[in-house]
Amino acid sequence: MAISAFLFLAALLCSVLYIVHKVHRNRKRAQVLLQQLPSFRALPSLPVLGSAHLFLDTTPDGTLRTIVNCHRRYGKNLLMQELCNDFKLLTCDPRVIEQVLQAKTIVKSNFYHFLQPWLGRSSVVSSGERWHNLRKVTNPAFHYNMLQDFLPTIETQAAILVRKLVQHVDGPDLDVYEPLQYFAMDIICETAMGVRLACQSNPRVQFVQDSEELVDLIYKRIFNPLLASDLVYACTRAGRRAKATVRSIHQFTRSVICERMKHMQDVPVSRESERRSTFMDLLLQTRLAGDELLSDDDIRGEVNTFMFAGHETVTSCLAFALYHLSRNAHVQQRLYDEIVSVYGSATEPVALTYATLTELKYTELVIRETLRMNPTVPMIGRLAAGDMVIDGVTIPTGTEIMINIYVMHNDPHLYPDADQFRPERFLEDLQPYSYLPFSTGVRSCIGQRFAMLEMKTALVKLLSRFRFVPCEEENALQVKANLTLKPFRGSFVKLVDRSMHYDV
Ligand code: HEM
Repeated sequence: MAISAFLFLAALLCSVLYIVHKVHRNRKRAQVLLQQLPSFRALPSLPVLGSAHLFLDTTPDGTLRTIVNCHRRYGKNLLMQELCNDFKLLTCDPRVIEQVLQAKTIVKSNFYHFLQPWLGRSSVVSSGERWHNLRKVTNPAFHYNMLQDFLPTIETQAAILVRKLVQHVDGPDLDVYEPLQYFAMDIICETAMGVRLACQSNPRVQFVQDSEELVDLIYKRIFNPLLASDLVYACTRAGRRAKATVRSIHQFTRSVICERMKHMQDVPVSRESERRSTFMDLLLQTRLAGDELLSDDDIRGEVNTFMFAGHETVTSCLAFALYHLSRNAHVQQRLYDEIVSVYGSATEPVALTYATLTELKYTELVIRETLRMNPTVPMIGRLAAGDMVIDGVTIPTGTEIMINIYVMHNDPHLYPDADQFRPERFLEDLQPYSYLPFSTGVRSCIGQRFAMLEMKTALVKLLSRFRFVPCEEENALQVKANLTLKPFRGSFVKLVDRSMHYDV
């Protein structure tokens, strides 16, 4: 008994000494770095707990609000301390962001590790040679020629969406998020995976709920240093929920992969031309160095990545766009005029082609302005790997830098009247690195052109048929951030049918 009490006390003492040493070392390092980088300021922090006391509001929109307030109050470049006063840098300053993104060795920050149980070591998470190999496989799937082929599918799904929305004409406020979500899911599954899910008619409620819950859990983990350790996390209620949702999502993804594999077997190689090669087919046929096929886990990770990145971002952007259009009648009218000038005033425009869609310059500005005010990827992270230099100072290897795109895009010094929806602002030159909805450089979004094509097509189809008018004030837009920025409690508009009302 006495021996075990002694051992316990000794272990406790060792742990306390270790923590004291770590806290002391980290605080000293932070101090040195701050002296070298005068453009950075430290967020208030406590010994051991760091700045955790600033992040007590864990409501869905709370963390975003806290970060915005920190930047407003303390500046564009911050040093934030975490558990044991480990620290990371936060920035929304284009001048600093440019230097961070120019580092040659690109490593994603530690929080991407929290995505691994779900996405595996997929292209969004991995670095180095593995990432290069994956990107070589996925790039051709989103080549210009493939995008042309995707257009009929996107058009068909947009027509279904319009039919779904017609029943809400002249009705009460409508939350457009959910219908847009199923629209985007159908498109990414059919174009990239070659699998027709028909979610618009047969909603996949479980998958949607699981994905929503999982990203919420992951986001909370990013800002709670107590949950950083995998071991500790696995023992918490949140960790167990995360595990259950990942299992359920993987089941769904597996069924999508199996369906495509079955289709590939059903259409023999001799009739290959009947089978359009999709992103999924490329994954299934890929051989890595050493002639090794991608493992089942690799394929599942990549499919999960593209299913998520390919629908969640587009859904939110379209939901935000329709909301802003409903509140800015003059912008909506100008957008509609452009659509009429290219496609005529039919409520069901036909002959959408890649070429005609590129004529829609104002539509592009509307999407750009939407992604400025509401960048659907609000924050990205990098990890210094030795060659990252800020203001002449080499950032210590292993330091994380969080780039806050949302705060930068809403900075009134960079965007005068930042809270006004004004697409025309993009006719003027921007400060370099001040607009990064798709990030930039080699790790920028692979789906950027695909997303633009999908969003433009949706806007043409929707605007040709409906006029969007403001919802009731009680349903005004609020935003929340988990991994993506999305409407909190919905994105509401009212619909007016253009085929019945000519007073546009
Ligand atoms: C409005 C739509 C979209 C926005 C705003 C957006 C934004 C972004 C951003 C900011 C990144 C960089 C992430 C980081 O550095 O951690 C990214 C990466 C990525 N996006 Fe998108 N995205 C959109 C649509 C799409 C679509 C439609 C797809 C798939 C078809 C897609 C697939 C990806 C992938 C796979 C990556 C990882 C690329 C890499 O690291 O090599 N995204 N996206």
